Amino acid sequence: MTEPAKLQLDGKSFEFPVIVGSEDEHAIDISALRSKTGYITLDDGYGNTGSCESAITFIDGEKGILRYRGIPIEQLAEHSTFVETAWLLIWGELPTKAQLARFSDLLTSHEMLHEGLYRHFDGFPPSGHPMAILSAMINAVSCYHPDILLNDMHNFDDSAARLLSKVRTIAAAAFKTSIGQPIVYPKPKFDYCSNFMHMMFSIPFKECEPDPDVVRALNQIFILHADHEQNCSTSTVRMVASSGANLFASCSAGVCALWGPLHGGANAAVLDMLEHIHVNKIDLKDYVAKVKDKTSGIRLMGFGHRVYKNYDPRAKILKAAADKILDKLKVNDPLLAIARQLEEAALKDSYFKDRNLYPNVDFYSGIIMRAIGLPVNMFTVLFAIGRMPGWIAHWKEMHDQKSRIQRPRQVYTGYQPRDYVAVDKRG
Ligand SMILES: CC(C)(COP(=O)(O)OP(=O)(O)OC[C@H]1O[C@@H](n2cnc3c(N)ncnc32)[C@H](O)[C@@H]1OP(=O)(O)O)[C@@H](O)C(=O)NCCC(=O)NCCS
Repeated sequence: MTEPAKLQLDGKSFEFPVIVGSEDEHAIDISALRSKTGYITLDDGYGNTGSCESAITFIDGEKGILRYRGIPIEQLAEHSTFVETAWLLIWGELPTKAQLARFSDLLTSHEMLHEGLYRHFDGFPPSGHPMAILSAMINAVSCYHPDILLNDMHNFDDSAARLLSKVRTIAAAAFKTSIGQPIVYPKPKFDYCSNFMHMMFSIPFKECEPDPDVVRALNQIFILHADHEQNCSTSTVRMVASSGANLFASCSAGVCALWGPLHGGANAAVLDMLEHIHVNKIDLKDYVAKVKDKTSGIRLMGFGHRVYKNYDPRAKILKAAADKILDKLKVNDPLLAIARQLEEAALKDSYFKDRNLYPNVDFYSGIIMRAIGLPVNMFTVLFAIGRMPGWIAHWKEMHDQKSRIQRPRQVYTGYQPRDYVAVDKRG
């Protein structure tokens, strides 16, 4: 039995239970804090706040550990597929052969969009950002399947497969629309990632034959992005879900949260940064000096993490994958060389060492995506496809936990009561 935490406030003593997780993390359960003491806590950016108990993903940021349902990310990246990992995250166990086959069939059966949905793409301007289109279209799908709005858990398997399958069809259609090519329909003969490559890169009369190494790299990228516990977008999904919102509305909100450059948008920002350094022939020492100068407003994109204070384990895998795929495709990308030099310079520099700033997942993922022919504005979309199983798993977990609606408090710092002044009397 762990001793309760003791708090002294206003001359009184209070006790709060200590919760211990399965990996021995300790948390003080303050759910009765306000009712017992009248106080609330203030935690800017939630760096010390556990918003839930979750059995999906474990991260040890100090040691650089990431596990999905207990299984190390390195093993999944090497041996699993995205579809199998999605099952693991959502349902908690590795699937049996029969479960995996059934899930794959379900994904195939949901790969098409309703014909009416394809017409929505005409309404977006060609310059429309695919993340905006993705978020809007995920919500639009629910209009064609009203049963989704009922949150009926008997249909959950079907809704989860529908979302996971259609998200890549929407992503590819958004891409085709943006480059003025006809939308390519999915083909049931392909597996999940090959089908995505087909929809992205086939053109009339010239079908893309997905390269198995590229498909493997795509599987790895998706697996490595599939969940990351209570990050900004997943917390958004859980927050929206807590109001009783359906799976599609909740995950569509997750896409919006992911879009920001401090979150999923960082993979595109890394490429922009490397391109900027390359095109303008910027000396890397000067660039690192600028990043360290707080007045410059520039950060080293793809570096640093709220939780990892060590090398992000996903970045390690992606660094090796980038080498492999560039070799295989015989791509000589100057941006990879800049990325390596930048990493080396930063890891030696006391500014980064003192702050425990290491490359994160976004540092190398963009190089791979670029090598396989994806445009920068699709990078965060790929992150969203990859993160979908995690969002679905968290939505389900919230639902199963019958959690309360999430509603933080605040410390009000505005005006004290004052009177309304008529417009002609205002100074
Ligand atoms: C990920 C990120 C938002 C985490 O932010 P955070 O946990 O709030 O960390 P902080 O902003 O408090 O940073 C701590 C210190 O490191 C510095 N820092 C953090 N990331 C930095 C970066 N990428 N480049 C330069 N300095 C950085 C901060 O300026 C701060 O310095 P200070 O203590 O002197 O004020 C942040 O590291 C970042 O902006 N990284 C670049 C964007 C990125 O790659 N995002 C993808 C995340 S997967």
